[in-house]
Amino acid sequence: MRILIALAAALMVTGATTAQASAPAALAAPNINVANVQAHLNQFQSIANANGGNRAHGRPGYLASINWVKSKLDAAGFTTRVQSFTYGGATGYNLIADYPGGDLNNVVMLGGHLDSVTAGPGINDNGTGSASILEVALQMKATNFQPTKHVRFGWWGAEELGLRGSRAYVSSLSATEKSRIKAYLNFDMTGSPNPGYFVYDAAEPPTVPGALALQQRLQAGFTSIGVQTELTKVNGRSDHAAFAQEGIATGGTFTGAEQTKTTAQARKWGGTAGQAYDRCYHRSCDTTSNVNVTALDRNADVIAYALWATAA
Ligand code: PHE
Ligand code: ZN
Ligand code: ZN
Repeated sequence: MRILIALAAALMVTGATTAQASAPAALAAPNINVANVQAHLNQFQSIANANGGNRAHGRPGYLASINWVKSKLDAAGFTTRVQSFTYGGATGYNLIADYPGGDLNNVVMLGGHLDSVTAGPGINDNGTGSASILEVALQMKATNFQPTKHVRFGWWGAEELGLRGSRAYVSSLSATEKSRIKAYLNFDMTGSPNPGYFVYDAAEPPTVPGALALQQRLQAGFTSIGVQTELTKVNGRSDHAAFAQEGIATGGTFTGAEQTKTTAQARKWGGTAGQAYDRCYHRSCDTTSNVNVTALDRNADVIAYALWATAA
């Protein structure tokens, strides 16, 4: 689906005799094709299948995931870097990818964790967030997006063991480097099979100036496609927490994990009341069958909407 950020009044149907109106510059975020996101999820599933059924920290399926995402970004002209860290006696990896151009003193970051738990392949948690930001990154290049701000992506290791990768990244930055990051958007579980449509609540401590604008931008993205949202307090349960603790404005979307969908939510969003948003959360059944494609598609479009609006 496609989300228009704005419609230029100048854009109108003109006859052949009328001088051609100049095209409005980059007003629309691109249509994220959910089939492309699903293809990335299939790749994560294949990687898990070939590596003992998971993509967990310290296991070969994790590094294979990092290398595969890196290869896609390298081919699209991103500047990539693999950052290593040690946790629990194993080497962990973050992948950092910078889109060429933009103001290096005004950095917008998008991220999500690439590791799974050891119990399963981690396709909803967090293949979905990882695959969605990957596709949005690839569409920046495909549409020749030239944002004013510098855009950087992060795929974090060892989130499942306590936000280890994102913390390692943030603590590797100097105070100056941290101050250049004006926003961090996190995507952890965006295709839950019995989905909710949650936006991170900017009022959740630690409150950071600028977080409310990010929350409202994500809400506006959903509103523009006719999807009602609820705010959720993530309680520091994902990688944005490492950034928020350093005073960086954060936001994100989430389709729900082990908690139960209420009757009111099922009325609003469809799906099954009294059942978890993701019954396969942290289980071996978190496979490519454990994804609601509509939720995946809507979230991917909202990610693009928010990035285009924040970085332009
Ligand atoms: N971070 C949690 C996990 O990976 C999932 C989660 C995301 C929970 C966002 C709450 C909010 O298991
Ligand atoms: Zn997760
Ligand atoms: Zn998890």
